[in-house]
Amino acid sequence: MKKLAKILTMALVGAFVVSVFTACGGSKSEDKLVMATNATFPPYEYVDGDAYKGIDVEVAQAIADKLGMELDIRDVEFGSIIAGVQSGKFDMGMAGMTVTDERKQSVDFSDTYAIGIQSVIVREDSEIQSVDDISSANKIGVQQDTTGDIYSTDDYGEDSVTRFKAGTDAVQALVSGKVDCVIIDNEPAKSYVAANGGLKILDTSYAEEEYAICVKKGNDELLGKINDALKELKEDGTIDTIVAKYIK
Ligand code: ARG
Repeated sequence: MKKLAKILTMALVGAFVVSVFTACGGSKSEDKLVMATNATFPPYEYVDGDAYKGIDVEVAQAIADKLGMELDIRDVEFGSIIAGVQSGKFDMGMAGMTVTDERKQSVDFSDTYAIGIQSVIVREDSEIQSVDDISSANKIGVQQDTTGDIYSTDDYGEDSVTRFKAGTDAVQALVSGKVDCVIIDNEPAKSYVAANGGLKILDTSYAEEEYAICVKKGNDELLGKINDALKELKEDGTIDTIVAKYIK
């Protein structure tokens, strides 16, 4: 009897030690959801003081909550998100990222959670009055590696396109006359125009697209969880509520 008690105690202590060990060590990578983004893209992701804010940030937080994981945001260059997701450095990329066939060769995308429109910002007195007025004679500013960059390079040629690290930098170049227009997603375009005088957005849009979250190719487990969470968040109105906070 004594011996049995001793064995039981040892087993209990052992189990305790193992669980403490997993809680401290093992959970680190398992319970964290590492999200790569590029926080220069209001209202989807931006820095406010020392906090990340925006639609993607809040939707990601809601997903992490559903999965019982801690959200860990990494603010990186837009063009390095996909490579980092591919290599496993980040669990997912969420950055107002457009689903394209080319990107699908490198990463897997979740169900879409928003629509994006590539729009054109010009100076108020610009000769460019519609998308059809843009030609390879114009200097076009874009955020590098975005669809605005990819599409306008395809349509107007390498020499017409000037690439900037952030959309805000492209917009500054437009204000100071270094470029003639900026091609960028419509909601950030609205934010940039509101923050700068003398600019407007053309009524005609350049392209329509869909935003989704990307994960490492073949990571079906995480993708399934993200899609389930997104579905619930769409159905219970959480996503609409978040969007309504940022887009009036
Ligand atoms: N929707 C565009 C794309 O996927 C632009 C996204 C830029 N996002 C950002 N967080 N800076 O290429």
